[in-house]
Amino acid sequence: MCGIVGYIGFREAYPILVKGLRRLEYRGYDSAGVALINHDNKLSVLKTKGRVQDLENYAKDKDTTGTIGIAHTRWATHGEPSNANAHPHYSQSENLALIHNGIIENYAVIKAELIDKGYTFHSSTDTEVLVQLIEYIKKINNCDLFTAVQLALNQVVGAYAIAIIEKGNPDNIIAARKSSPLIIGIGEGEYFLGSDASPIVEYTNKVIYLDDEEIAILSRNKDPKIVTISNIEKTPEIKELEMNLSQLERGGYPHFMLKEIFEQPETLRSCMSGRINVEGTNVTLSGIIDHKDKFINARRILIIACGTSWHAGLIGEYLFEEFCRIPVEVEYASEFRYRHPVIYSDDIVIAISQSGETADSLAAIELARKAGAFVYGVCNVVGSSIPRNTDSGSYTHCGHEIGVASTKAFTAQVTVLTMMALAIAKEKQTIEEAKYLEIIKELQHIPDKIQKILDLNDKIKELSLIFTYAQNFIYLGRGYNYPIALEGALKLKEISYIHAEGYPAAEMKHGPIALIDNEMPVVTIATHNTIYEKVVSNMKEIKARKGRIIAIITEGDETIKAFADHYIEIPSTVECLDPLLSSIPMQLLAYHIAVNKNRDVDMPRNLAKSVTVE
Ligand code: AGP
Ligand code: GLU
Repeated sequence: MCGIVGYIGFREAYPILVKGLRRLEYRGYDSAGVALINHDNKLSVLKTKGRVQDLENYAKDKDTTGTIGIAHTRWATHGEPSNANAHPHYSQSENLALIHNGIIENYAVIKAELIDKGYTFHSSTDTEVLVQLIEYIKKINNCDLFTAVQLALNQVVGAYAIAIIEKGNPDNIIAARKSSPLIIGIGEGEYFLGSDASPIVEYTNKVIYLDDEEIAILSRNKDPKIVTISNIEKTPEIKELEMNLSQLERGGYPHFMLKEIFEQPETLRSCMSGRINVEGTNVTLSGIIDHKDKFINARRILIIACGTSWHAGLIGEYLFEEFCRIPVEVEYASEFRYRHPVIYSDDIVIAISQSGETADSLAAIELARKAGAFVYGVCNVVGSSIPRNTDSGSYTHCGHEIGVASTKAFTAQVTVLTMMALAIAKEKQTIEEAKYLEIIKELQHIPDKIQKILDLNDKIKELSLIFTYAQNFIYLGRGYNYPIALEGALKLKEISYIHAEGYPAAEMKHGPIALIDNEMPVVTIATHNTIYEKVVSNMKEIKARKGRIIAIITEGDETIKAFADHYIEIPSTVECLDPLLSSIPMQLLAYHIAVNKNRDVDMPRNLAKSVTVE
């Protein structure tokens, strides 16, 4: 959600900024802009509603010179997407230009005060209030830009990642963050800023992850300086990036989503690598080993997440209850944070998040930590806010996920949760040795089995053509496959905009079966497992009402083939690993239907990749 890029150094800033904005496009946005201190020391702001390409067209005949600049893609929270509301925002005198990701909650009060003092506003954003406040403070205190930013940030309530530059001061960018991500890239004689590492990675792999309430002063030819808003100087901790450039390119695929779906055999190997021993007989997760008493003695596991990560959490519930015999509750982070939950100090809270930046999940973590619970993060983005605010955790290590619709991150989350359940169950001695070994062995076959399903891509594409014009879809599953029904429906909704609902198959007769007629496609996951017969009965109920069944079945299942309208065969595996296979046809079906409908698959309307506002 929203992108920030910044540059100060010896090169021309504009091409770096625009390229950086393109790298951040995947996060979702509605307008784009840049501010530069040009070679003649002018401070110019160029911005427009629309895409980065629109900004480039607009900037074609303008002055884009300068070796210092900041750039932004906006995801509107206050004020509609428009040219005026796009960032950067000038201050009253047009001496300052600021970009901002987040929300200034007390902007209305500050705005009223500034209007009283004669300030005028050109946008409806909360952001413009902040830049005006900084200018006002600078004027009345006659102080430098850093001090004015520091004083202003002490007055604002809310979330922000900001970057600001000043006319006549071409040697400094001031940047700060609270609850919104911001990374500084350190080059030789140059600095970069990014909401994530993607605009930075092609120039340097040395980064500083700014922490909450820290302000960075990036000065030409000087070391970076970091001071908190309460004026404590911090020693910058320089970290190495794990990302590489090829992860940011489509590599011959028409969409990032398809590339990411096809990467799954590899991403799951990398997720398991170093965690399963070479003999394939043991799972070790250092995050669990280091705190094994906590897990052995846990009263309860609370899983908090949003969206697709929440679906992974539901699978976690089945895994932890079956193998570790620990009661589990799975919560939407957004509900958890506001509903006065009961949290015990011997609870373990597992926060699952691809981006590691989801605002609701971060707030839920804060609540859990205040209550004394032990918080474990399952995240993909290394160095993101959640791993830095949890007691321990495991990365999913599936590489940068760009498609807004999460695919490879989901299967990696489920894989990590499976390894966690195995590791804890072994410590607690709640799993039989033979079962433990069987699951680890099967886990290692999963990448090859996924590859077999990916080989059915053409068949699934063909199938998608039949359903491109469906108005609604129902997805059904039971047991470990129930969360996959929810996830399948979410994938289709997100990228094709077709209304879809997921249900536990047996719930149909409690209401939703009223929707079934000969127009309703019903995707049913009916693999060979302990409740197979029950699912077959549920399917018969659908068929009796003339629903059109698309069945996901275990290879060679002649019973279902005989009555399903369409079927996709997937390899068999142990029941608890079913989701890792049954999720793949869901992803491909949603992808192809969306492509048939000519949708913007990687950047679907209204959605953002990382939801950094609540
Ligand atoms: C997935 O396809 C979504 N776009 C969305 O539901 C996502 O899973 C959710 O916003 C949570 O994000 P996170 O994993 O980065 O916390
Ligand atoms: N709240 C600001 C606005 O509406 C920033 C939004 C963003 O994060 O892009 O302009």
